[in-house]
Amino acid sequence: MVEIKACIFDLDGVVVDTAKYHYLAWRKLARELGFEFSEQHNERLKGVSRMRSLEILLEVGGLSFPKDEMEKMAAKKNGWYLEYIMQMTPKEILPGAKELLEELRRNGIKLALGSASKNTPVILDKIKLTKHFDAIADGNSVTAAKPAPDIFLKGAELLNVNPSFCVVFEDAEAGIEAAINAGMRTVGIGSKDILSKADFVVPNLKGFSYNTLLSIFNK
Ligand code: BG6
Ligand code: MG
Repeated sequence: MVEIKACIFDLDGVVVDTAKYHYLAWRKLARELGFEFSEQHNERLKGVSRMRSLEILLEVGGLSFPKDEMEKMAAKKNGWYLEYIMQMTPKEILPGAKELLEELRRNGIKLALGSASKNTPVILDKIKLTKHFDAIADGNSVTAAKPAPDIFLKGAELLNVNPSFCVVFEDAEAGIEAAINAGMRTVGIGSKDILSKADFVVPNLKGFSYNTLLSIFNK
């Protein structure tokens, strides 16, 4: 039996579907640079940091630029991305996410957000979920990207809970690996083929309850 004291949620792809906005902004940059960036290519950017995403994009386009140029490109992409996320509303919270957060809190489970995104505070504000979390570990507080365990370890530290009592909800393979590297339990959100290392995989959070959590881990 594993006692669960805290849950740590990834943001993009678990609480909100921001991948579509990341994609539109990266595609705009690719077009400016003279090549097409497909949705399939975009799959490779999930869970990956902003600069690493740009490296992958440039690799797809067969281009390379000095570091300072890359910084400018990443900033430009983020400007376009911000235009999208500034329009977000609570309607964009993925099915089941808010209900699960509220139910977990009612049952005494501590809650953290663990995301690579530096835009985490803006997004949480727009979808009005900031107060649903007891702690936030994001790309502003941690530099080592997933699959490094740092973001999730930071979340556990802020909650004052030992990593072995934490369950991480993640949609990216690198995120599941990060959680395993942190010594935490995992629930993968998405496909079993991609998230095969997770303890348990569900297609989304719809219908996932406190009891589901207990039935998976408290046995
Ligand atoms: C992750 C996304 O959550 O955050 C990645 O899955 C993204 O696609 C990364 O690149 C960094 O996001 P941001 O908002 O700091 O550019
Ligand atoms: Mg994600």
